[in-house]
Amino acid sequence: MDKIIIEGGRPLNGTVQISGAKNAALPILAATLLTGGVHRLHNVPPLRDIRTAKTLLYHLGATFEEGDPLCVHTDTVDGHEAPYDLVKTMRASVLVLGPLVARFKRARVSLPGGCAIGARPINLHLSGLERLGVRIDLKHGYVEASAKRLTGNHIYFDIPTVTGTANLMMAAVLAEGQTVIENAAREPEVVDLAHCLNNMGACISGVGSSIITIEGVSKLQPMDHFVMPDRIEAATYLTAAGITRGEITITPCISDHLEAVIHKLEQAGMKFEISEGSIKSVGGEVIRSIDIKTNPYPGFPTDMQAQIMAMMCLAEGQSIITEKIFENRFMHVSELKRMGADISIEGNTAVVRGRPTLQGAPVMATDLRASASLVLAGLAAEGTTEVSRVYHLDRGYEGLEEKLRGVGARIERVKE
Ligand code: EPU
Repeated sequence: MDKIIIEGGRPLNGTVQISGAKNAALPILAATLLTGGVHRLHNVPPLRDIRTAKTLLYHLGATFEEGDPLCVHTDTVDGHEAPYDLVKTMRASVLVLGPLVARFKRARVSLPGGCAIGARPINLHLSGLERLGVRIDLKHGYVEASAKRLTGNHIYFDIPTVTGTANLMMAAVLAEGQTVIENAAREPEVVDLAHCLNNMGACISGVGSSIITIEGVSKLQPMDHFVMPDRIEAATYLTAAGITRGEITITPCISDHLEAVIHKLEQAGMKFEISEGSIKSVGGEVIRSIDIKTNPYPGFPTDMQAQIMAMMCLAEGQSIITEKIFENRFMHVSELKRMGADISIEGNTAVVRGRPTLQGAPVMATDLRASASLVLAGLAAEGTTEVSRVYHLDRGYEGLEEKLRGVGARIERVKE
């Protein structure tokens, strides 16, 4: 297994290219299952999760022409099962449920279990599909979905679920009549998927608000879609400038997607120059402590909670960080403490008492964003940090070491 070794303590300066968004590309890849033909997807990041999604599509009968655009041929799709081995590797595999049931009227998808950050049930995906006339049976660890036809209906989500909204939108585009999803997720990745589906001939309105209306259509055409830039990758590099007191420009990016993060980083003492498609970020000499509560978009993203916590470990004063989306997303805390951080946890709240320095140490993480926070901590720490279980980072950050080396970090990957 690979390890990442970081010699910390130097400010990062320069420009970082932001890749296509993992969490937009995953549902968009699933959406290729909605109709046969050749789909052209631009700006798909070459990440481990994307390879898993392609393996799943291949298992269902799709073929690929690699490159940018990535061409996905779906005329040959005849499978309807997402097996346990793939779903346990990546929960987002559950995104094939909506499109398969919409196109073939049946799907068999392994139930994802809990994961490192929480229980993460899919009850809202399933009850939403039932509202569209899909019969759901849970058998031997699998969701078995079947329908004679899908009929539009009103769906209300108790919680605005991101992949649940994506799954339901993909099912409803080919249903008969109108579907309204209330308390829908408003995340930019959901909006990107809706643009992609509309580009295929779907009729979706209201995306970006909490009420989405879908008028079913009888036919779709293959997509030609450019995946949006990754806002979480972008925010991670902005935080890298903050924690190292450096100066990093990110491009391409959509600044509107980053408003909550920029607002908080400004409170922490950073300065930003926002122009069309790029943001220059300048770390303050002093990191000021800030309080954060994660929330669904447009609130502060849970996918940035761990990274911002690493920065607050070096702030002047005390920060209160409250995680409101996932019940177990503080797995980075004990590792940050091994680097000298002063953090205590009570329930879903972490109290971070900033210290002048962190020290490099061997650390490991249990999920993607926790790993990113340890890398950020390592960039700012005195001495050497070794981050193991690098495969987590490979799920969601394209070329992390190269991009960081490009802005002056001393970071390398070694085989363990
Ligand atoms: N929830 C339910 N029932 C459901 C669905 C969700 O109770 O049927 C709960 C979850 O347990 C959680 C909350 O609702 O407490 C929100 O979860 P959501 O469904 O929105 O999360 P997700 O769709 O499984 C996506 C991203 C995550 C990101 C979350 C929140 C993808 C592939 N994954 O997950 O990304 O943290 O939304 O924004 O889009 C990551 O990239 O590191 C990552 C974990």
